[in-house]
Amino acid sequence: MSRDARSGPHAVLAGTGIAIPPRAVTNDELARIMDTSDEWIRERSGIVTRHFVEAGVGSSDLGAKAAKAALDDAAMDAGDLDYLVCATMTPDHYFPGTGTLIQQRLGVDPLPALDIRQQCAGYAYGLQMVDALIRGGVAKAVMLVGTDVHTSLMPWSARSWKVLDGELPPEELSDDERERNDRFRHLAVLFGDAAGAMVFRADETANGRGLLGGKLYGDGDRLDILYVPGAGSLHRPWVDAEMIEQAVHVPVMDGRQVFKLAVTRMPQVTKEVLGGYGYGLDDLGLLIMHQANLRINEAAQRSLGLPDEKVHNNIQKYGNTTSATLPLAFHEARQEGKAPEGALVAFTVLGAGLHWGSMLMRV
Ligand code: ACO
Repeated sequence: MSRDARSGPHAVLAGTGIAIPPRAVTNDELARIMDTSDEWIRERSGIVTRHFVEAGVGSSDLGAKAAKAALDDAAMDAGDLDYLVCATMTPDHYFPGTGTLIQQRLGVDPLPALDIRQQCAGYAYGLQMVDALIRGGVAKAVMLVGTDVHTSLMPWSARSWKVLDGELPPEELSDDERERNDRFRHLAVLFGDAAGAMVFRADETANGRGLLGGKLYGDGDRLDILYVPGAGSLHRPWVDAEMIEQAVHVPVMDGRQVFKLAVTRMPQVTKEVLGGYGYGLDDLGLLIMHQANLRINEAAQRSLGLPDEKVHNNIQKYGNTTSATLPLAFHEARQEGKAPEGALVAFTVLGAGLHWGSMLMRV
């Protein structure tokens, strides 16, 4: 899979953008509504704050904002785009997809727009899709958005939200409400809302720049360690009041299993992909990993023997933003000068499905 053997125009990065909801939520604020602490969350996950949207803001709203920012950065108009790919785990609606809603919010003429449903690995799948679309001559300017509004998955009552927002004192919560909030504390403290976008242009003479390729995996055998058991076509109707009461619309996660797989497979696949394209770890300028847990990324970095300046993490500020983690971390790393033109960047992920893999890009 050597880089030079592949034909077609290169998908070269033209711009990046992000959208972060203004409201930052601290660990102490979460502790108002569940039995948790700043110390536990920081120690186990590295997370200090995450951002939450206001009720009524969906993944398409954040996605469109990030897409506009990426277009501005690239000095492009939305009308220049001829394809839009959106990775999200939390679409505005069961159907249609969020990609088309972003197209509509950008105010452009109809164009092909699709959603990718690979959760934490969604953006890496999106990078492969962009590479294929541009190399195959299907598109010349592609917007890739990753957007997630996880607050929509939080199994909290309206009163819990008021306590979180400081509108009611914690004593107002019933024992049942507390029990339910505690039951999902291992999940609820990890996630935040955000979107990130990267826009790519076809370039025939890219001098080695652009998406280089990569390797992605999917293995349905590991569904049980991270999935949403209810609210789907296995059920008739697909969702009902009992499911909501039992909270089977909330993800089930075996955190320890996911953790173990992430710390082994993320370094493994990064090395596999670098080697497959004729590169070594010394050639790597920057590693952007999915931001699910800072401890996972620290272990992966140690296992690869990479210095701090070659890795960028920002889960401390944003929590796990699923489809948005890669573009969000890359955007900030780029702003900090960690991804200058010509740098080799690996985007490495592991998440529900199980899906994992790594994609390479020369900035
Ligand atoms: N606050 C306080 N205590 C808690 C919390 C919390 N928020 N959550 C769990 N605990 C308690 C548990 O009840 C348990 O208590 P016990 O010892 O009395 O039974 C104790 O803390 C340890 O629980 P573990 O689940 O074993 O804690 P662990 O060290 O594994 O950390 C965590 C949990 C942070 C979830 C970690 O396993 C993890 O990050 N795993 C990976 C998650 C991940 O990568 N997910 C994939 C991305 S999501 C996607 O793809 C959609």
